[in-house]
Amino acid sequence: MAERAILNTDIRKGTINKNIYGHLSEHLGRCIYEGIWVGEDSPIPNTNGIRNDVVKALKEIQIPVLRWPGGCFADEYHWKDGIGDREARKRMINTHWGGTVENNHFGTHEFMELCEMLECEPYINGNVGSGTVQEMSEWVEYLTFGGISPMSELRQQNGHQEPWAVTYFGVGNENWGCGGNMRPEYYADLYRQYQTYVRNYGDNRIHRIACGPNVDDYHWMEVLMREATRFMDSITLHYYTIPGPAWENKGAATGFETGEWFSTLEKALRMDELITKHGVIMDKYDPDKRVGLVVDEWGTWYDVEPGTNPGFLYQQNTIRDALVAGVTLNIFHKHSDRVRMANIAQTINVLQAVILTEGVKMLLTPTYHVFNMFKVHQDAELLDLTIDSGTYSFEGREVPEVSASASVTDAGIIHVSLCNLNHAASATVPLELRGLSGQKVEVRGTTLTGNKIDAHNTFSQPDAVVPQAFTAFILEGDLLNVELAPMSVTVLEITPKA
Ligand code: AHR
Repeated sequence: MAERAILNTDIRKGTINKNIYGHLSEHLGRCIYEGIWVGEDSPIPNTNGIRNDVVKALKEIQIPVLRWPGGCFADEYHWKDGIGDREARKRMINTHWGGTVENNHFGTHEFMELCEMLECEPYINGNVGSGTVQEMSEWVEYLTFGGISPMSELRQQNGHQEPWAVTYFGVGNENWGCGGNMRPEYYADLYRQYQTYVRNYGDNRIHRIACGPNVDDYHWMEVLMREATRFMDSITLHYYTIPGPAWENKGAATGFETGEWFSTLEKALRMDELITKHGVIMDKYDPDKRVGLVVDEWGTWYDVEPGTNPGFLYQQNTIRDALVAGVTLNIFHKHSDRVRMANIAQTINVLQAVILTEGVKMLLTPTYHVFNMFKVHQDAELLDLTIDSGTYSFEGREVPEVSASASVTDAGIIHVSLCNLNHAASATVPLELRGLSGQKVEVRGTTLTGNKIDAHNTFSQPDAVVPQAFTAFILEGDLLNVELAPMSVTVLEITPKA
């Protein structure tokens, strides 16, 4: 039982950037091909080759920003291979991911059209690892320059007269690893060089994103901030939640034991420590917090589903993933003064996906439902919320039992998101509502839970884990007593009455 929770409805702590609800879609496994792109001649209903069901589902959760083409794929992607007559485009081997043939049918024009359909911002990741300065510079010119130039003319020849608006541009991905195995000193210099030619054309203003550290590589963050702060608008952080003890033994997405439930959530909570510690380094070089931290890869990473291509990173998604999503989004809210964007990996059929497909069939995962429930926080104002939660323990290890955050919309509607991490026991949260000056409120809620720790949706039972109306609360004056079911994610809507 939580000892006490206090929500100061009149203390605002800054805007929760909607881009925290962003996604990554890489040329990996069945994320782009089948998940998004099926081609114009497919029997799967599509618009110009892009699946209609997926677009509809992603619009529903108000996807704000989409990162592409990778991931590791970004640093071996040569964008000119993906433009012009589709049938004449180069075919290549996707060496990182399963050794499949990449036919380049989904390229710049297709991605930009997808973003237009989704009404989301494109976040394009350029190639530093195996690409040239000229290649990156020309991509930006092709995308955003409206005047007379070779790249602008090439774009027009390929059917797009006007330039696109592109705000977010990443200069390399994981350059400490798959993006070139560089030392931070070397990458910092390359970053400074490459970003020089990522030009602002016309009114288009590019937000330059430097490749940041993996997990707790504080040295990488220190060097990048020391050498390149003034040349960047944001820097990335990658952190995946891997329950198992080793990379070769990450654990299964379903059929796991209670210990794995616990260690998964314990590890997901580490995001808070990572952002805090990287934030201290960033504060040293950027005390005014001009530079954003972009957590552009996060989520669970398990062993692949048995019988699937190990390079496709296909995994099921359970109520445990819903808890990881809820806990992580609450952490991002708390750090929204520094975390300006985050991109869960990856949108469809890869890692902690919000959507799974099987041919023409599509299902929404528990993680999708959390994104749908939490979308009310997008661009809302973070509220001061303290929760003295009880602990949830397993074999002598402890984590806070309840994770929570709250925000208020422009219209004055308050939302509180609460996750009960305990797999077996319900949690009571006595939530004191302060600062309402005697105003009465109306409370409603939605909750997501499962009947077992690996409850999940399948193509034969796509609605096994879906949100339900939440009524387990009692309002007495300013005290809202909330009873959270075991392993549940809940969002309360509190509307002050005139
Ligand atoms: O998301 C899968 C991979 O994880 C990405 O390609 C890479 O950036 C990271 O290592």
